[in-house]
Parts: sequence; C-alpha cells; structure tokens
Amino acid sequence: MLLGTQKINSRNHLEIGGCDTADLAAQFGTPLYVMDEQSIRERCRTFKQAFDREYGCSNIAYASKAFIVTAMCALVDQEGLWLDVASAGELYTAKCAGFPMDRIVFHGNYKTADELEMAVELGVKYVVADSFMELELLSAIAEDAGKTQEIMLRCNPGVDPHTHRLIRTGQEDSKFGFNIKNGTAMKAVKQALDCRGIKLSGVHCHVGSQLFDLTPFTEAAPVMIEFIKQIKDETGAPIEVLDLGGGLGVRYLEEHNPPSIDEFAKTVSEAIITACAASDIEKPGLMLEPGRSIAGEAGTTLYTIGAPKEVNIPEEPGVKTYLPVDGGLSDNPRPALYDALYSAILANRAGDAPTKAYTVSGKHCETDMLIPNVLLPEAKTGDLLAVQTTGAYNHAMASNYNRFTRPAVVFVADGKADLVARRETLEDIVKCDVLPERFKGSQTKA
Ligand code: LLP
Repeated sequence: MLLGTQKINSRNHLEIGGCDTADLAAQFGTPLYVMDEQSIRERCRTFKQAFDREYGCSNIAYASKAFIVTAMCALVDQEGLWLDVASAGELYTAKCAGFPMDRIVFHGNYKTADELEMAVELGVKYVVADSFMELELLSAIAEDAGKTQEIMLRCNPGVDPHTHRLIRTGQEDSKFGFNIKNGTAMKAVKQALDCRGIKLSGVHCHVGSQLFDLTPFTEAAPVMIEFIKQIKDETGAPIEVLDLGGGLGVRYLEEHNPPSIDEFAKTVSEAIITACAASDIEKPGLMLEPGRSIAGEAGTTLYTIGAPKEVNIPEEPGVKTYLPVDGGLSDNPRPALYDALYSAILANRAGDAPTKAYTVSGKHCETDMLIPNVLLPEAKTGDLLAVQTTGAYNHAMASNYNRFTRPAVVFVADGKADLVARRETLEDIVKCDVLPERFKGSQTKA
C-alpha cells in the first residue's frame, strides 16, 4: 500500500513528498518521522470544503494531540483551520507558533487553575468545560481578569463507539463530560448561565477514536440537537455551536477501508440537519476536531534494520525471524497500548516482491513488538524499514524510555525536506536531572 505522495522511484526506493527516503535517512539519521506535507494540507482542505458544502456554517479544529510541533500549528493556521489543544503544553506550542488565539478550543477533563488562567489571559476562543468546579473556577478567573470567557460544555451523549476500550469516550461510563440522559448536563447548563464570568456558547461531545463505522456520530447528533432544544426550552439560552469532536479512522493496513472525509461530512451533516428538522430548531454552527484523520496517514517512520534473528519455536512449525529496528516502544507505543497494527515497506528495495514473514521488534529492554507479522523482501542489516501511518499519536506519545533520544521530524514536500523537530541529544536526556551537592564526586559508601 502506498499513501499520500508515497511512490517507488527509479532507484527502487520509497519516495515521499518527492524525497528519496534513503537520502532522508542519510541526512537526518534514523529513526526519523517523515511527514508528507501535501497529504496533510489536502486533508485540511478536504475537511473544510466537504463540511462547507454539506453543512455550511462549520469550522474544523485540528486536534493537536495527534501530532503537534510549532511548524504543524503554523501549517494548520495557513490552511485556515482552528486548533484543539488539551494542555498548557499544547497551548504554549500554539502560542510560540503565533497561532491566532481566537481560533483555539481548549480541552481537558481536569484543567488546573494555572491552565485556565493561561487560557483566559491568552484569550482562547472557547474553553470546553468538563466539571462543576471548573465552571466556578473559570468564571472567577475570567471575572478577575475583567473578561467574559466563552465556553462549550463537554457532554456525554451515552453512545457506545465500539472501538478500543482505551479510546472510547462517548459511552455513559466515561470520565469525560456531563451526562445528558441523567440530567447532569442540564444542571451544568444552568450553573454556567448563572456564572458571571462565562458565556455558554456551545455544546461538545467526542465519542471515540479510529472509527470506521459512522453510526456513533449519527447516534450522537440527535441526542446533542435534542439537548440544544431542551436548553432553549428550559432556559431560553441560544446555543450557537455544536462540536462533535474527532474520531474518523485511518488506514493502517491494506485491508482497512475507512470512510472518506467526504462521506463522513455528508453523513454527519445529514444527521444533524435531519435532527434539527425533527426537533424544530435552526441548525447551529458546527465544529469538528479531526486529529488522526489529518495527520495519521501523512506520517512514516524510517528505521535502520539491525541483525535479523531466526528463532525456532519447538511447538510451532517453521522458523520465526525477528527483525530488530533502531527504535520501538519509545517512538511508537501504540502496538503495546492498543494492539495497534501497522504496515511496512522495505524502503531501499521498495519495489521488490515480498517473500518472507518478519516480526518487527524494537530495541528496548522488553518485548516491544512493532509489527507481529509483516511480509517483506529478504531484509539485511542496514536496510531501511518504513512503517506507515505513524503521523498521529506516535511523535506525540513518544517517550525517553531506556533514555532513548526522541527522533527528529521532517516535513517533506516538492522534493524538499525541512526539519521541524530536531533529534534529541544525549545532553537533552540529562537536561532535567538535578544532582544534589551531596551526590557530587560520589564514591561507594559501603
Ligand atoms: N477531540 C477530542 C476532545 C478528543 O479527545 C480527541 C481524541 C480528538 C478530538 C481527536 O480524535 P481523532 O480524530 O484523532 O480520533 N492515543 C490514542 C488516541 C486518543 C484519542 C483521544 N482523543 C491512539 O493512539 O489511538
């Protein structure tokens, strides 16, 4: 499978954004996250155009948790999207990139007072409130600052998205949101309307992630619309915005067939428009927060292959071949966390027929398996492995486990590669360590 601008060039190498991946590996080292800029831009545009066409008054906020560096914020700004941030760190990154604060939505089930102060001070457009305490705190902070902070209420529509248990959010038993069905959300609305420092502008829900079936969205839409109507009937307050979160799935494997962005826009828009007609209300402004579906397929991780290791397992027929790569759990924790599966290409012999099954393993001090079973051409030490669809929740979730340095990130487009995050150095690894005086020049005490 080839994604975005990926192709096999005349050197039989995998090329992305017009850049030969072997050249990228030589120039920037491995592991390396390669982001296909054109693919990201196209997806941003497709989202905007599709929702403008199908719904009209809509805004697309890129969910920065999927992948964020300052250059990504700048790209998203250039494409005219909004940005969803979910921590002081993400908000700070957006600020450093000069992202317009009046296009930022600030999320989180537990925002600290410092985070709320930062959001109010910087002037983010919407804070998505997720607890009674937050409503009170935010209102007080905004009043002290002499401002009125616009908010959306994070609601729980009680929809089961049937995705991996760790990325399910819209079901009744969730740490997120005010429950609509049991009346908690209406209580929150009333409290919000009584708070002088805040203005209730919207309602929000996010049902889950990596969804191929759009039913959770079409189930959530009428629940949210009916809630907007109920708010109007009970309090007279107009709700201007409905935010349906993110969640559209992407292609990790050849056999994956997620709905297209156009299909997604059509289905979601129709569900909302139909629900508005049924509830007899005007359609609200619409916001979506795609993360994975913008960044996921645009990312490829390049690794250098170490020494293949053949293992005979007595109870199993044949020989298993482990293919170690120079990264693993620290640059992609998703296989370990979610049993996530990935596709891969032998980047320096990309057009050769796959002949052998490999188990791709990382180089951490544990059984970190990146891909349990992948067919590749015969692979040798020093070959380059390109793992696909690593643009979302890989760099963003990377760690320094085993004190690995986090890889660099490059944006590639039109034959040019730009570094957007440099590789960490060994100095970076110890930069937060503090060695108290009494440990200095330490000698064995025993
Ligand atoms: N909006 C909100 C409020 C969210 O919580 C999320 C994701 C999104 C938008 C974006 O969802 P997306 O379009 O990317 O599905 N680390 C997990 C994914 C966690 C998603 C959390 N929330 C993974 O690697 O699969």
